[in-house]
Amino acid sequence: MSCVVNSKGLRYRYDSGFEALRGVDFRLHRGENVAVLGPNGSGKTTFLLHLNGILRGEGELKVCDLPVDEKHLTTIRRHVGFLFQDPEDQLFLPTILEDVAFGPAQAGLSKAEAEARAAEVLAQVGVVDGWERAPYHLSGGEKQRVALAGILAVRPEVLMLDEPTTHLDPPGRRKLIDLLKTLPQAKLVVTHDTAFARALCERAVFFDAGRIVADAPVTEVVERYGWGL
Ligand SMILES: Nc1ncnc2c1ncn2[C@@H]1O[C@H](COP(=O)(O)OP(=O)(O)OP(=O)(O)O)[C@@H](O)[C@H]1O
Ligand SMILES: [Mg+2]
Repeated sequence: MSCVVNSKGLRYRYDSGFEALRGVDFRLHRGENVAVLGPNGSGKTTFLLHLNGILRGEGELKVCDLPVDEKHLTTIRRHVGFLFQDPEDQLFLPTILEDVAFGPAQAGLSKAEAEARAAEVLAQVGVVDGWERAPYHLSGGEKQRVALAGILAVRPEVLMLDEPTTHLDPPGRRKLIDLLKTLPQAKLVVTHDTAFARALCERAVFFDAGRIVADAPVTEVVERYGWGL
């Protein structure tokens, strides 16, 4: 099976001097859904931010078989759909429809095609109307859905989702699970929501102090670390 993410001995130190990643070894294969679990501050988000080159550490890192470096960054960012922990970080246009249509338009679709694509993915994430509203004024869960629609609109090869359920209500969580299950892309999902992790993923890794200390079926990892609610 070909690798979508291949990390060997990845290390990263913030400017403050704090070493947030201390040698991360990890592989994600095509079509796999993997949950990233672990305590607050253990390096999960820091690791994810390396996978589309927002942060650049030391060690080996390949995404979609390309090394994450200056030369490949644009291509890698096109392949990787990245949902930030805070949806505020990725909504920036005056209306929902424009925001979601932005990616496809950048990728070369006409305005009408981009808006049709946006309409399709907005319906998929359960935002069925009010597309003229400003993303800025939406509730947390609505922002999270719109941000996800913006990612799906560009049909990426792999999805990196940082805490995608934090703002969602229970029916919203169930719908997200159903939706993600229908998507063929490999997914790496950082979450504290173990029910969500169990429902979506077969495999989980557990971060502790900047390292992956377990890589096993979700149920096994959750039990080993007492990570269920
Ligand atoms: N910009 C920064 N400068 C210095 N230290 C940082 C910075 N961002 C994060 N850190 C530190 O790096 C460590 C890892 O942070 P990270 O955000 O990766 O944790 P996390 O596992 O995603 O936690 P959470 O579950 O709370 O989201 C933390 O101790 C954090 O304080
Ligand atoms: Mg985090």
